[in-house]
Amino acid sequence: MTKQIILAAYVGGVNEHTLWEHPEAGSQIAFSTFKHVAQTAERGRFDYFFLAEGLALRARDGVIFDHDIAGRPDTLAVLASLAAVTSHIGLVGTLNATFNEPYELARQLASLDHLSGGRAGWNVVTSFDAYTGANFRRGGFLPYAERYERAEETVATVRELWDSWNEDAVAADKATGQFLADPSAGAFAHHGRQFDIEGRFTVPRSPQGRPIVVQAGVSPAGRDFAAANSDAIFSPYSRLAEAKDFYADIKQRARNAGRNPDDVKILPGTSFVLGDTQAEAEEKARHVKEQQLTDRTIQVIFEQVWNRDLSDYDPDGPLPDVEPDTTAPDFIQGRALIHGDRHATVAKWRALAEERGYTLRELAHEISGSADYVGTPTRVADQLDAFIQEDGADGVVLGSHLVPSGLDEFVDRVVPLLQERGSLRTEYEGTTLRENLGLPLPDRDGALVSR
Ligand SMILES: Cc1cc2nc3c(=O)[nH]c(=O)nc-3n(C[C@H](O)[C@H](O)[C@H](O)COP(=O)(O)O)c2cc1C
Repeated sequence: MTKQIILAAYVGGVNEHTLWEHPEAGSQIAFSTFKHVAQTAERGRFDYFFLAEGLALRARDGVIFDHDIAGRPDTLAVLASLAAVTSHIGLVGTLNATFNEPYELARQLASLDHLSGGRAGWNVVTSFDAYTGANFRRGGFLPYAERYERAEETVATVRELWDSWNEDAVAADKATGQFLADPSAGAFAHHGRQFDIEGRFTVPRSPQGRPIVVQAGVSPAGRDFAAANSDAIFSPYSRLAEAKDFYADIKQRARNAGRNPDDVKILPGTSFVLGDTQAEAEEKARHVKEQQLTDRTIQVIFEQVWNRDLSDYDPDGPLPDVEPDTTAPDFIQGRALIHGDRHATVAKWRALAEERGYTLRELAHEISGSADYVGTPTRVADQLDAFIQEDGADGVVLGSHLVPSGLDEFVDRVVPLLQERGSLRTEYEGTTLRENLGLPLPDRDGALVSR
């Protein structure tokens, strides 16, 4: 049977992939930007609109990056506004499990679920650095190893709160004309290692009962957490070989956790560049990459790994002849370090640069790769469909280098081809995000019934 492709549209905010200085780029904070992307995605029958979260502005040597977009609006406020101008698409926001409290999270997400008629989702992140914590009372809070422990208990507690309203009892009360006589409506008590709370939850059971939970984070602990607790995963693995490994690993972990592996959907972040011919698309992709990798971006990419000031090194010159500084505090803060071992990374890059005669700029182009799908609409539709059918993933989270109008041509030119093939819906099947994703529906006690 043809697997149905799950599509999500992504507005990442602060990053070096979006060309915010492009003449056609919108504002990173104006409502019109989010509205355009969400409505375009809904026109393409996407499953959900997705926002990342950055709780701290990034800094270089203690000074805010001038090439990052300064400031981003709050996820929940944006999603609640979008609920009013869309009617089917899911609204998934990233919210941190390290710095937020379960009671607030449960209230906010259940409210969004009510306001949107059952379209809310929560991407659970734990954040990667103590720097972010300094914006909160809890500077430096929690040790890395405890973050998933807290995340696990946060999700469990939030679900207890969502399940705390006994709708049958409330309906019975209404029928007898009494005003919430049921003493158990909203009552909760959670006594755990991370949270010791009890009281009454203020938001009645929402249309989905359980808004969907997404996870992003790739360590073994993150994978186990996702396989046991999440409905979907935002993955960084968009290339077939590594994507298949991740897919098989997560589905196995889900089985080990006693779940149906189909109930955990995997969606890598994915980029595309379209053209009328293959040559035109490739030329466009090259041009986009040049604009993304400005001299300052190249400098920061390498400063993060060398952990020192590299402003004296010419991007068109050789690699720095100094060693990375592994004892100094982080030179670049608030940006995930994806290259773990600094010395090993530098050694690997030096060998590559020597072998191919690369300058810093050429090395930056090499390590940052090209867009995932580059080609004519037909070729992109073929390749994306093959990626899904071969179990690279269950769907993709599409982001464009041009915000907000970049998604338009994907929806106008690639979506109809996927629909013709029968791998993408032409109409939404259900009214809630859970139904559209084909996920188990919770019964009134919160138990999930696999479909
Ligand atoms: C694809 C992906 C997207 C992420 N998006 C965010 C984000 O929007 N905001 C955030 O604070 N952290 C984000 N994170 C960071 C994770 O929440 C997590 O803190 C980090 O990956 C460390 O966990 P790990 O060791 O399990 O990967 C993201 C991670 C991944 C892999």
